[in-house]
Amino acid sequence: MGNAEKLTNDLKSLESEVQQRLAKAVEEKDLENISIEFLGKKGKLTNVLKALGTVSSEERGQIGKFANELKNSLEQSIETSRQHILEQYYNKLAETEWFDATILPARFPAGFHGGDVKGHIHPISAMQKRLEDIFSSMGFSIMDGPQVETDQNNFGMLNFTDDHPAREMQDTFYTEQDHLLRTHTSSVQIRGMKKLKPPMRMIAPGRVFRYEELDASHEHTFYQMEGMVIDHTVSVSNLLHLMHTLLEEIFQKHVEVRLRPGYFPFVEPGFELDMKCLICGGKGCPVCKYSGWSEVLPCGLVHPNVIKSGGLNPSQWQGAAFGLGLNRLVMMWYGIEDIRYFQNPDPDFLYQF
Ligand code: PHE
Repeated sequence: MGNAEKLTNDLKSLESEVQQRLAKAVEEKDLENISIEFLGKKGKLTNVLKALGTVSSEERGQIGKFANELKNSLEQSIETSRQHILEQYYNKLAETEWFDATILPARFPAGFHGGDVKGHIHPISAMQKRLEDIFSSMGFSIMDGPQVETDQNNFGMLNFTDDHPAREMQDTFYTEQDHLLRTHTSSVQIRGMKKLKPPMRMIAPGRVFRYEELDASHEHTFYQMEGMVIDHTVSVSNLLHLMHTLLEEIFQKHVEVRLRPGYFPFVEPGFELDMKCLICGGKGCPVCKYSGWSEVLPCGLVHPNVIKSGGLNPSQWQGAAFGLGLNRLVMMWYGIEDIRYFQNPDPDFLYQF
């Protein structure tokens, strides 16, 4: 047998080999393997064609053409098998699982929104929007910042020393080198100072994350709204007045507040501002943990080191900052006892608002 004839036979037997293998293929992965084994760069077809050098140039042309056609037809066969395998897969699926695409979700109560099924605003988004309106009317700009932050914006430039306990793994989700899921919206303070020229007032609402043990008042994902005011002089009484006005604006009634010292590395002095519990009026209930007061507003005067990190001169500029816990406010507003409801995808929770 001449070289050309042998080569042609080899090619033909490749074809029947592929067909046999395709007949046995049961999943897409098998097809991929066949394709690599026969048609891949180092596959059997390439290997057989190495013998092309041993035939005359006239024969080489013919065999080359044949090899090309063969390759196309094998690719076709593999594709046909793929269609076949998918079809079988879906037929089988249809035997065990089915759904009626016209059926309404069972959870939408009849008559909800007049029977007109629509999306629903989450109570946290609604609270955020209300606060944004209140702050805008008081001349505050709304700032945004990334949820994956640099360690510097979240901690370093906010005067957290390298060994501050809040940097430890139990509080923070670290992502890649020097980045983390922001643990508070205070991370936007530095961005705000750099972007907005003083005197300035800003808020920064958003999602924050902590590596928490979950319970009725602790979530790994929750919402805050940072507030910051920078001016030539800012005092504790300015801060207190602002906070008090704000809370009465939010709750639309007289609220009683008290100030306790609180420690945050980025403010000095720092405070915890409590509000007389609106649910029980101070008598004690599960929402205020029977204390009669609810811790709603950590705040303080901006530490000079932070003013400096923001690119400003602390002998010319002073500031006040506060952090509103949006989940907490919504809980106070509606008397919700468990913070974990907010992340729960159950629409029945949302229908109540
Ligand atoms: N960022 C602080 C926290 O999440 C709250 C805070 C904000 C405190 C602004 C003081 C000033 O706990």
